[in-house]
Amino acid sequence: MKWINWGEKQKTGNADMDHGHEKLVELINQLADGMESKKSKEFCSNVLEQFVEETRKHFTIEERLMDLHRYPKAKEHTAMHERFLKDVLTFKASYDAGATAEFTTLLVILDSWVNRDIMVADKGLAEFLATAG
Ligand SMILES: [Fe+2]
Ligand SMILES: [Fe+2]
Repeated sequence: MKWINWGEKQKTGNADMDHGHEKLVELINQLADGMESKKSKEFCSNVLEQFVEETRKHFTIEERLMDLHRYPKAKEHTAMHERFLKDVLTFKASYDAGATAEFTTLLVILDSWVNRDIMVADKGLAEFLATAG
């Protein structure tokens, strides 16, 4: 099963942002593989940890760009980042605590990340940056 549909359509056109997203999608694919081939919990938790780290780095890059170019929607966009991180961390905490892994919960979080955060908010930011010069 593919957890995230990813292709040209999901590209924002901003190389730095797209690079970050691709790295994150790669980690999600690793996690999906790990779950499907029933790898250890330690393996999956580790991949999730890497995902959180890369997400933090990626958000910092976007937030710096917003700052630098005085993006008018920076506040909402940053709040969206915080919400996503909080959701992923909440999921990870319950997974690590040994609660029955509800991966569908994570899929819902990821789905809105791709379809709302990336397809709408990040694309809007990329467009703004392209004209900000
Ligand atoms: Fe973003
Ligand atoms: Fe992004």
